[in-house]
Amino acid sequence: MSKAVRLDKFLADSGRGTRSEVKKYIQKGLVQVNDMTVKKPEQKIDPERDSVLLKGERVEAEPEFVYYLLHKPAGCVSATEDRNDRTVMDYVPSGRRGLFPVGRLDKDTEGLLLITNDGMLAHELLAPARHVEKTYFLRAEGIVTEDDRIRLEQGVDIGEEKPTLPARAEILKRTGGDGGDPGPGCTELLLSICEGKFHQVKRMMEAVGKPVIYLKRVSMGPLTLPEDLKKGECRPLTEQEVTELKQAGKK
Ligand code: URA
Repeated sequence: MSKAVRLDKFLADSGRGTRSEVKKYIQKGLVQVNDMTVKKPEQKIDPERDSVLLKGERVEAEPEFVYYLLHKPAGCVSATEDRNDRTVMDYVPSGRRGLFPVGRLDKDTEGLLLITNDGMLAHELLAPARHVEKTYFLRAEGIVTEDDRIRLEQGVDIGEEKPTLPARAEILKRTGGDGGDPGPGCTELLLSICEGKFHQVKRMMEAVGKPVIYLKRVSMGPLTLPEDLKKGECRPLTEQEVTELKQAGKK
């Protein structure tokens, strides 16, 4: 269903200038709607049906919602603004207002972060009842034993009312920590959780006595961090990814 909008708002929302700049373009006769010059900024148009030209160039309607997949680097906070630190918003195109990160990664955590202006989808993805799975790659101090792994999967006490919900833990690599190698050694693992408690992964690893040294989110629901997306880079989600994400939010 298409909606009528003011011509000046349409042009400003399409990134053609501020509201007062586009008003001037309109008043100067630089804008045509369906081949007719229109000089009233308040004129209503239908963005899906009307053809709008600015200085002879076609202006396409911007989609209402935008979705970016960011490879968050360490050292920035998951907020829209901050007095002291860089925020994740420094890494996404700034042309759209109302963008925000869906959920939080700690300042020292890297990896997949969804940035959007779609509040409804964010709400659905974050709702505890939806149980959208998030997978983290992590390096922990010490040797994570099979016993620890099973405890992580079954649920550990992180100081909340209840233990953590069932999770999946896969050991990737254990290094050192044996007789020939002094020191506690370290373990790399993938941990998949369906909750989003504050510092949850770090607290789960603390609960088994193997603190996190490095943490990176590699997937969230159907989204996977692309291998070729460097730290600090972002790209728009594909239509397919948006569709899959919306399905994940509905489950
Ligand atoms: N769990 C954590 O402890 N930190 C994060 O950034 C994400 C999940």
